[in-house]
Amino acid sequence: MQHLQFAAAVFILLTAPLSQSEASTSTKSVNSSTPWFCHEYECAPYTVIDRNADYETRQYSAANWVSVNVQNYTYRPALSEGFAPLFEYISGANQEGVNINMTAPVLVKIAAGAGPFCTSNFTVSFYVPTAQGDTPVPTDRSVYLNRLPPATYFVSSFGGYADDTSVPAQAAALTDKLTANGEVYDSSLFWTAGYDAPYKLSGRHNEIWILKNGEAAAVRSAAG
Ligand SMILES: *[C@@H]1O[C@H](CO)[C@@H](O)[C@H](O)[C@H]1NC(C)=O
Ligand SMILES: *[C@@H]1O[C@H](CO)[C@@H](O)[C@H](O)[C@H]1NC(C)=O
Ligand SMILES: *[C@@H]1O[C@H](CO)[C@@H](O)[C@H](O)[C@H]1NC(C)=O
Ligand SMILES: *[C@@H]1O[C@H](CO)[C@@H](O)[C@H](O)[C@H]1NC(C)=O
Repeated sequence: MQHLQFAAAVFILLTAPLSQSEASTSTKSVNSSTPWFCHEYECAPYTVIDRNADYETRQYSAANWVSVNVQNYTYRPALSEGFAPLFEYISGANQEGVNINMTAPVLVKIAAGAGPFCTSNFTVSFYVPTAQGDTPVPTDRSVYLNRLPPATYFVSSFGGYADDTSVPAQAAALTDKLTANGEVYDSSLFWTAGYDAPYKLSGRHNEIWILKNGEAAAVRSAAG
């Protein structure tokens, strides 16, 4: 099962150095209305309303997510801590005891702490396709269902791995570009969006999302 491979690989990544040179199985989507980087995963749908060399402006409609809140100093441990119960949830830790397909992206909301010695708040989320109808209720009380309202995000993309070096650097690069272009954005939080299992070594796609201002309050409160 695809999501089992995905999760197994996440745990391998977190416990072992990347030494295997597995061939990439990158297959570009033939359906041009689905972004190539979604591959076989069902992706949260969006509309690109503007695009330049550095970032896209995307409109996401309201969507359901399943989430876990984590506090930590840095991104990587927070992601692994949040990913585990979400993976359990899609693997049957829900009141119906059903398996749910892995989706994309894995979203991490990051509200940075006040200083380098403070923890930050991370919300790790899996997208729940509306086609699933009645979404199973989680059995782990740290896992909760939430609905994000429609919102507009500035989105930049990068390859390789999202980690404690690339994530802050990419987020800073995007805010610099937004400021230079006179965009009005919410500087108090940002998201990472990951689309690939860790065993995939090439053709990787990651994103930084920053909320366009004016929509911040609703999204911040709905995101837990
Ligand atoms: C692409 O996917 C969309 C949405 O799933 C669907 O409506 C459309 O017919 C597909 N197009 C092709 C060429 O398969
Ligand atoms: C951060 O994550 C690590 C690894 O999971 C964990 O050992 C540590 O307790 C966490 N720190 C906090 C402040 O929760
Ligand atoms: C789950 O994935 C399988 C295999 O890709 C697919 O056939 C099935 O329709 C998916 N189920 C849902 C509810 O999307
Ligand atoms: C993190 O979450 C806690 C508990 O909800 C809250 O008191 C704190 O202000 C949050 N910190 C940040 C930086 O958002």
